[in-house]
Amino acid sequence: MSMNDSNKPLADLEEWEDFLKERYPEPQSDSKGFQAIDPEKKKEQFRNYEADARPSVREFYRLNHHHQTYDFVQAKRKDFLSRNRREMGVWEALEYLNTLVDDSDPDTDLSQLDHLLQTAEQIRRDGHPRWFILTGLVHDLGKILCLYGEPQWAVVGDTFPVGCAWAPSIVFHKFFEDNVDRDEPRYKSRLGIYEEGCGLDNVCMSWGHDEYIYQVAKDYLPEEGLYMLRYHSFYPAHKEGDYGYLMNDKDREMFKWVRAFNPYDLYTKSHEKPNLKELRPFYDDLIKEYFPAKLRW
Ligand SMILES: [Fe+2]
Repeated sequence: MSMNDSNKPLADLEEWEDFLKERYPEPQSDSKGFQAIDPEKKKEQFRNYEADARPSVREFYRLNHHHQTYDFVQAKRKDFLSRNRREMGVWEALEYLNTLVDDSDPDTDLSQLDHLLQTAEQIRRDGHPRWFILTGLVHDLGKILCLYGEPQWAVVGDTFPVGCAWAPSIVFHKFFEDNVDRDEPRYKSRLGIYEEGCGLDNVCMSWGHDEYIYQVAKDYLPEEGLYMLRYHSFYPAHKEGDYGYLMNDKDREMFKWVRAFNPYDLYTKSHEKPNLKELRPFYDDLIKEYFPAKLRW
């Protein structure tokens, strides 16, 4: 890895996800797949994850926390949420994402599409509703941002609200020292520019693949699925239980689904390659059930 290439500190996007898996090892869950936040988690543990992180992962978080300012997020939203780059159906977008090939480690010969199919198939095997399966299939499609030349730290990474104080549980918190929002009086307090209990819909999150796919899909999936898309990387809330003061009752209700989705996001990747030919008809039908033939990206 070259540290000079500040857009790509990670060898591939999975390096960030591997780090998440180290930090959040597969927990016990109840029969419905819902997980509780572990109240036993000690502050010390975070420091160990940070100390043990690969230099590439560390550099990735440094850049993310340095650059994800309130103004940066506004600029990216303005640029990408006009969604005038491409028109693609869901399967077309999956194939487009599949052209994202990086210098992955040699023992994974699985593509982005394989990973998404594995996630969806596990949700299907567990007997969840069809919209849940479809949400699993599309949840990382926002990573096509990388194919537009966006830096890794503006595509993936644990997300967090901008415009207010950063919660202590955010990993590599010390790297916020280099974020200019630190000196902005409006953003410094716990609530910053927001009101207590204002609801996450009124809160601006750090920019990445989650918000992008949410915006693309927002007219087509049930609200539970949309929450999964929009907040699946919001680890400070769904894993650490932070930011309750920005949530309203609907958010709290819907975060049960975000937490139900998380194990499929983190723990379903295996080396077994899904049989594309066999699965395609099922997914063609499923996509057609919810999405129009073309979406704006
Ligand atoms: Fe993701």
